[in-house]
Amino acid sequence: MKAHLHYDRHFTVSELDRRVFGSFIEHLGRAVYGGIFDPGHPTADENGFRRDVIDLITEMNVPVVRYPGGNFVSGYDWEDGVGPVGERPARLDLAWATVEPNTVGVNEFANWARAAKTEVMMAVNLGTRGPAEARDLIEYCNHPAGTRLSDLRRSHGVAEPHAFKLWCLGNEMDGPWQIGAKTATEYGRVAREAAKVMRWVDPSIELVACGSSNSKMATYASWEAEVLDHTYDQVEFLSLHTYYGNPDDDTANFLARNLDMDRFIKSVVAICDYVKAKKRSAKTINLSFDEWNVWFHSRGADQKRERWQEAPPLLEDIYTMEDALLVGAMLITLINNADRVKIACLAQLVNVIAPIMTETGGRAWRQTIFWPFAHASHWGRGTVLRPSVVAVDRHDTRDFTDVPAVETAAVLNEETGELALFIVNRDLKEAVETSISLGALKASRITQHHVLSDPDLKAVNTAAAPDRIAPRPGSGAAVETTAPGSTVTLRLAPASWTVVVLEVSGV
Ligand code: AHR
Repeated sequence: MKAHLHYDRHFTVSELDRRVFGSFIEHLGRAVYGGIFDPGHPTADENGFRRDVIDLITEMNVPVVRYPGGNFVSGYDWEDGVGPVGERPARLDLAWATVEPNTVGVNEFANWARAAKTEVMMAVNLGTRGPAEARDLIEYCNHPAGTRLSDLRRSHGVAEPHAFKLWCLGNEMDGPWQIGAKTATEYGRVAREAAKVMRWVDPSIELVACGSSNSKMATYASWEAEVLDHTYDQVEFLSLHTYYGNPDDDTANFLARNLDMDRFIKSVVAICDYVKAKKRSAKTINLSFDEWNVWFHSRGADQKRERWQEAPPLLEDIYTMEDALLVGAMLITLINNADRVKIACLAQLVNVIAPIMTETGGRAWRQTIFWPFAHASHWGRGTVLRPSVVAVDRHDTRDFTDVPAVETAAVLNEETGELALFIVNRDLKEAVETSISLGALKASRITQHHVLSDPDLKAVNTAAAPDRIAPRPGSGAAVETTAPGSTVTLRLAPASWTVVVLEVSGV
């Protein structure tokens, strides 16, 4: 099979916002307790946070982490998680039918984020609570001093404000499973009023309104339009969430699911711009794809679990090689939509549908999906170039037609003079002879070439075999330079993820 693609330095999508490589920690299962926080662990720091887990997160280069939920946030009283730990109440968490001890709250999480070199994307509860509690939380977190709540924070040992910049106005408020679910009218009104008072407390914040929980919701599209009708002038972003699975083991169909993600993004952009036109507004709403991943492996086990446990293993998907390929393809989709997707959060980060797994008190390791994320986050810096596909083999699957065998994204880093190519060959059987012409860019050498593939698409990493699926150095890629620029040729193994980084001139 063959693929021929063309990139041109002057045909760009946009600058890539680093925040598309965000992630998510919810008070859910073992994400916090037994995941990032494990005071008895040999690597725990003075605050009880696992250093080995922080090291893996640092390796993933995660610029922002959404917190504390998720469904959890819609029943959360943030006041339970501040002040002396011994005085904090344990509570029933109705979202996940567990017990929340409140040992970790907003101040502990801010400490953790500092240690993990990441920013906090804070969510407020618009399920059981409303604008008043949202403005209280932002006063507690972001106001310097001299008021009841800022001084309360200072009395809790946090002298400087956290200065959290990014705030989510609730979570999945259209979902019947959500505590305090709302109609678009109810949510739109509450979100607007919460946004107003939060911004009056701190005008420097950026706000995300909830879009639909996924594109299959009955109210999808009308929800977005109505919510934006109410909130357009008050928010910067609208959220999207999606999870994909392969429960019927149709891998060809599964590996095409990022095309659905692409369609979803483009439709939500269209809705945002429809409301923009309707309002004759000069402002553009961008997208926060703040939950995305593969999620299906753990659903059966979770249904059998006993209720009201503290930090039980929940949503602990063990990811396969093929999951890593779809995650790679989804990353490519997010990158290629960088003109409107400015924030995205891989959901989630540790233990719960996560690239990092831990044993409570024991080992930590990288799941298969860790690798495409870490690669894209590490080398995906700069300007996204617009792909133009000259020729590529295509096939049909159960739900998709004209599926290209190869997906690519190219990011040009003007500062370092490097061009990063991210490529998925989703053909399950055949290698693809690929040529990528770079317009007038001249490539002097290949500085990185990594490949993730395995003949067993169901292979996984475990505590005992943590590197069963790990990238290996690629070989055989070549650069040919004739006027006006270079062409890269390489053979993509069947069902593979590839990263090639080139040193380029003509930037
Ligand atoms: O990420 C797991 C859950 O998925 C989140 O709590 C919720 O927002 C979504 O339905």
